[in-house]
Amino acid sequence: MKATAIAPANIAFIKYWGKKDDVLRIPLNESFSMNIDGATTTTTVEFSDVFTHDGVSFIGETIQEKEIWRITKHLDKIRHLANKKLFARVITKNSFPKGTGIASSASGFAALTVAAVQAIGLRLSEKELTILARLGSGSACRSIPNGFVIWHEGETSDTSFAESLYPSTYWNLHDIVVLVSRDAKKISTTIGMEGISTSPYWQKRMKYIPGRILRTKQAFQEKNFQKLGEVIEEDCLDMHHVMQTQSPPLYYWNEITKNIMQSVTNWREQGLPVYFTIDAGPNMHCICEGKDEAKVMTALKTVQGVQSIIQNKVARGAYCINNHLF
Ligand code: PMV
Repeated sequence: MKATAIAPANIAFIKYWGKKDDVLRIPLNESFSMNIDGATTTTTVEFSDVFTHDGVSFIGETIQEKEIWRITKHLDKIRHLANKKLFARVITKNSFPKGTGIASSASGFAALTVAAVQAIGLRLSEKELTILARLGSGSACRSIPNGFVIWHEGETSDTSFAESLYPSTYWNLHDIVVLVSRDAKKISTTIGMEGISTSPYWQKRMKYIPGRILRTKQAFQEKNFQKLGEVIEEDCLDMHHVMQTQSPPLYYWNEITKNIMQSVTNWREQGLPVYFTIDAGPNMHCICEGKDEAKVMTALKTVQGVQSIIQNKVARGAYCINNHLF
């Protein structure tokens, strides 16, 4: 009873911040994202009646008690669904540093869900897999369907699911992730978003989201990159405005992040179509069309403080592979 899955991280163009239900991880708003092919998690899960406890480890990275706890709780849900009392061995490998704003919890819980469901012998639809992954980490639901994905916020667990709006082949968008720090963030997104209602601006943000989702869908229909880029940056800055005005405030950017934001704006003024977005960490996502990637890469070489770069195309969602990690 062993299975291995690979899942991409995803970058939200319209972001989610705040939940209606913290336990079921039902978000306050609909969000929209792109799966990225250069930042992936591979996870092997084996259930066996020989094991006397769950064993969880990450290859090449340390693991904290609370991460083990979250993974074990997720396995409990899957064991409950399958009505099987078997312990598991879980080994995970990230192609990028976890906890730095590249959605490692998204790719992590998507890979864990798909591998564990397969290993324990459950047969679930894609929609059911997204619901289950959401219970592990909200944005993980968006790493399961193909390409460009919408997460309907829903009102109940069954109605809060993700689906593909366009396949990965629809639009050759690139996400150049600029790593400016490898330090794990001090405040997790789970804890951070519990404070959303202390920001005086969160309700205003909620009013704008439906219009932004609509503009994103229109930009996709028309393949209008400027329209898309403008709404991506607008929503990123808006989410960070809410984060920074929470009590206590959450500042995820550092000086290099801010320099790159300014540089991206300057490059655009000089005619290079590139836009930025940032999740809960200092690392920068530069979004451009495939035809402009080389020019963005050249421009990025002039920026000080860049540690490394991950170039991403649009990825398909999570899937099982036959090469196990143990
Ligand atoms: O996946 P979670 O529940 O830890 O939340 C991630 C939230 C953001 O990355 C900040 C935004 C998003 O929609 O991906």
